[in-house]
Amino acid sequence: MSTSRVLTGITTTGTPHLGNYVGAIRPSVAASNNAGVQSFYFLADLHGLIKCPEPQRIQRSTLEIAASWLAAGLDPERVVFYRQSDIVEIPELTWLLTCVTGKGMLNRAHAYKAAVDRNGQTGLDPDADVTAGLFMYPVLMAADILIFNAHKVPVGRDQVQHLEMTRDIALRFNHLYGDHFVLPEAVIDDDVATLPGLDGRKMSKSYDNTIALFGSRAQLQKEIAAIVTDSRSPGEPKATEGSAVFQIYQAFAAPAETGEFRQAFAEGIGWGAAKERLFERLDQELAPMRARYEALLADPARIEAALLAGARKARNIAEPLMVRLREAVGLRRLADAKGRASGTWSAAATGSVAGGGAAKAAMPLFKQYRERDGRFYFKLVGPQGRTLLQSRGFESPNEAAQVIASLQARGAAALAAQQASLQDLPEVNDAELARLLDRLRDTDDTGDAA
Ligand code: TRP
Repeated sequence: MSTSRVLTGITTTGTPHLGNYVGAIRPSVAASNNAGVQSFYFLADLHGLIKCPEPQRIQRSTLEIAASWLAAGLDPERVVFYRQSDIVEIPELTWLLTCVTGKGMLNRAHAYKAAVDRNGQTGLDPDADVTAGLFMYPVLMAADILIFNAHKVPVGRDQVQHLEMTRDIALRFNHLYGDHFVLPEAVIDDDVATLPGLDGRKMSKSYDNTIALFGSRAQLQKEIAAIVTDSRSPGEPKATEGSAVFQIYQAFAAPAETGEFRQAFAEGIGWGAAKERLFERLDQELAPMRARYEALLADPARIEAALLAGARKARNIAEPLMVRLREAVGLRRLADAKGRASGTWSAAATGSVAGGGAAKAAMPLFKQYRERDGRFYFKLVGPQGRTLLQSRGFESPNEAAQVIASLQARGAAALAAQQASLQDLPEVNDAELARLLDRLRDTDDTGDAA
């Protein structure tokens, strides 16, 4: 019940480099082996479209990033590994979220503001060349996270604002429609090195200073040769601080090896020799993965199958939530609209909509309604139509929804805490009530949303 869900995505616009490996791929593979955590890793190809109108490149990058993750040891059986665009619920949820997102908040998003500022400096229209996709980036990202009710999202510092916006959007939605979403937290690992690139700035595609993760051995050697160093000659002691050669080595070597390398710097190792040692150390680490990577790239159908299997797992979670969300916002079947028009205005609870199969039909339902006293109530109606729980009146539908959410999330265990919100029904059998509430909890995917 209390497994924590961790989710992260990589945008599919480029070929993975060493910085992606150290900053994102390696830590996520390590984290996926933790017990008690359910990990979601995905290829953010819908995000890729925002920056990259090149179809071949989107496809190629998706393939390469997926292969890199698998070659680095990600086990698709243990985690939910999928491609964003296979989860149709994500764009659908994006629209629901769009309708509760303040435009003013999006105006303040760093990426959008940076584009507007650049235009301002060159005297262009503020929105020149800015797509609505770039503007909406944070809402799509919020949908990625909220559709799985992820608790933790490991990201780089540059993404923290997006997580704040996600929380803001989730709060707003919960406020309007009931408690559907967990408020996710950004996880920024300060131990995860930001790897310097060839020029000493952060290794990043946008600085064009990267070293390919799975290039050939010769390419690796050539790229390492291009790392900028100072002009000290062999024999002169060299500073490790600020040296990209040293920092990249450190990100791959064990502490003892790093100690020896530090010593060699103090003793004046030449840059050529230092780069040779870096190359050998990197290649030792990367060669086995590179072999797996190449085998995977040669067999794209295998990757495709893994992603489709992952998408099925992901949609098993996304789809029932989306059913509830559609119901919550009023995108509903019309057949039962009559009863609602005469007072029962909402039945946003689990089980009231999806499917209608035998198992569903045997489930109790929460019904929300408003009485003539103007207050908001809910009751839990058993499979045979008996009232099992009856709330007292609330000031707002939201308060009622919160009590429902807590009962859904915790089952019978929530009864004691919610006692003040419930009326006493002496004719109800407590044991039967407890059993039904627990059943409801166990079939509820947003179980811990409260
Ligand atoms: N915006 C992220 C990046 O550029 C990629 C991303 C898209 C993401 N959706 C996400 C990361 C959801 C975490 C969670 O790095």
